[in-house]
Amino acid sequence: MPEIVKTAAMIIARDLKTLRSAAKSLGALGLVPTMGALHRGHLALVAAARAAGQPVAASIFVNPLQFGPNEDFLAYPRDEDGDLAALAAAGCDLVWLPDVATMYPPDSASTITVAGPALRWEGEARPGHFAGVATVVAKLFGQVRPAAAYFGEKDWQQIQVISRIVADLLLPVSVVPVPTMREDDGLALSSRNRFLTPTERLTAPKLYAALSGAAAMIRQNGDVEPALARARMAVTAAGMTPDYLALVAASSLEPLAALTGPARLIVAARLGRIRLLDNVPVR
Ligand code: PAJ
Repeated sequence: MPEIVKTAAMIIARDLKTLRSAAKSLGALGLVPTMGALHRGHLALVAAARAAGQPVAASIFVNPLQFGPNEDFLAYPRDEDGDLAALAAAGCDLVWLPDVATMYPPDSASTITVAGPALRWEGEARPGHFAGVATVVAKLFGQVRPAAAYFGEKDWQQIQVISRIVADLLLPVSVVPVPTMREDDGLALSSRNRFLTPTERLTAPKLYAALSGAAAMIRQNGDVEPALARARMAVTAAGMTPDYLALVAASSLEPLAALTGPARLIVAARLGRIRLLDNVPVR
């Protein structure tokens, strides 16, 4: 018999058999995939899933496949006890905690590759990253078999990549985007913010301020290039190094020279050792 562990009515599954029997007993699920080190941004996804009236499953898996060789897989923050307490308090029904051998058995031979919205920006800065995300998310869908899955707009490009996979592979799940949760000063919540020094923490909100300023300018007069140039200057003057700051088509992530349809301003900038990502809607 699979062992079903319950804490405050929340089921914790660490093997596939337990997961499948718990998922079956709960019915049509909303899934919130995470890598743990949960903050209020992640919990906003749980709240959105709950608001839709379904039972909610969250997964915690720090996915080695989406980290590059020089990235922080081993240093990625882990706090299982804190995460489980936060999920239970948020009203989560089921937590899926696979280990690496469960997610990637030694005889695994298949991965998912994505082009289209995955090619530029984070795709270029982090080769292999979106293939790793695509593969693990497809596997999570196969394991949990949710009716809906909730993702944060904080990672705008990631949502577009996942929506593309779901459409292309006809996966029977609806992808639900959830708006970015921010600190009072505008900084988007992120597990990596804890690594900012106190001085960097004061600088970081200037990224969102620059994006918001540029979005307002583009909305007002439609001048894309001057708005982007000004925002890049503001980010640089604040002491950050932009990797990219661009106006892109909301779904394809193709760069836009003019506001011709649904669009998003996206940015990645380095601040000390930390790479900050953010984005805002333009239209
Ligand atoms: P992770 O970085 O843990 O993020 C899990 C989910 O929380 C993602 O959908 C992300 O966009 C969302 N999120 C993070 N910060 C947020 C914020 N400030 N406001 C709203 N949502 C926020 O993204 C991943 O993990 C992984 O790539 C994953 C999809 C789990 C695949 O491994």
